[in-house]
Amino acid sequence: MRRLHRSSGRLEQGLLLLEGTHLLQEALELGLRPDLVLATPDWQERHGALLARLPDAGRLRTASPEVLAAAATTGHPDGVLLTLAMAQLPAPAAAASAPGFVLALDRLQDPGNLGTLLRTALAAGVERVWLAEGADALQPKVLRASSGAALALPIERMPAPDLEARLVEAQSHGVQLVAAMVPEAAGSVQPYWELDWCRPTALLLGNEGAGLAPELARLADQWVTIPHSPAVESLNVAAAAALLLLERTRQAHGRPAP
Ligand SMILES: C[S@@+](CC[C@H](N)C(=O)[O-])C[C@H]1O[C@@H](n2cnc3c(N)ncnc32)[C@H](O)[C@@H]1O
Repeated sequence: MRRLHRSSGRLEQGLLLLEGTHLLQEALELGLRPDLVLATPDWQERHGALLARLPDAGRLRTASPEVLAAAATTGHPDGVLLTLAMAQLPAPAAAASAPGFVLALDRLQDPGNLGTLLRTALAAGVERVWLAEGADALQPKVLRASSGAALALPIERMPAPDLEARLVEAQSHGVQLVAAMVPEAAGSVQPYWELDWCRPTALLLGNEGAGLAPELARLADQWVTIPHSPAVESLNVAAAAALLLLERTRQAHGRPAP
């Protein structure tokens, strides 16, 4: 389990580490089968109903709070840890071939930002997530911050040039590429509410420090911004994403059913 703290260990074992009652609940809701569940006697006493939902009770092991703390990435795990085979996660190839809504992230570094963003992406109906390098979406911090959304979305992490190729391919299938830019960005940037978000769309967001790579920004068909006071240069990327991703939902609500 400790080896699963690192991306190399996760790849080697083909497993993920999930920490806490909430992630166990989310995994079971999604129909995922834990490989191993490690829980303290006290936790097991308090969560009989949840344990009864385990697809395979033989996967449960009892551990002391000290052992659990040694296996966890957090200082104070709430009494349960589990491992999951990565092979159970949504396969990118299983998604529809012409995506309706894609979130593309350029070298996002902060696991908290990535997790928050993935949770919003799931709420907004994003069908695929493409990551150009940056934080690993399957690390425990991202899984916690996403509240399990990282387990439900088809997520692909790739080198930056591969993201460019993927976006060009999506464009050739009629998907509009929309770059999220800070208000002071040069060029023809429009307020985000002026865009038709109901068209097949790939939204591109940039790195926390450097913003969107110029070669990705150049690929875009539309450049949008969230206007705000010049007192700040930009918004936190996850805060910006919440407005942009949910604008599609807002516009769809205002339209008559097809
Ligand atoms: C913290 S900002 C990066 C700031 C960076 N110094 C720059 O000039 O782009 C990270 C990303 O969040 C998005 N973002 C931040 N504020 C935004 C705003 N007001 N409108 C649209 N997107 C925004 C952009 O995609 C940006 O690349």
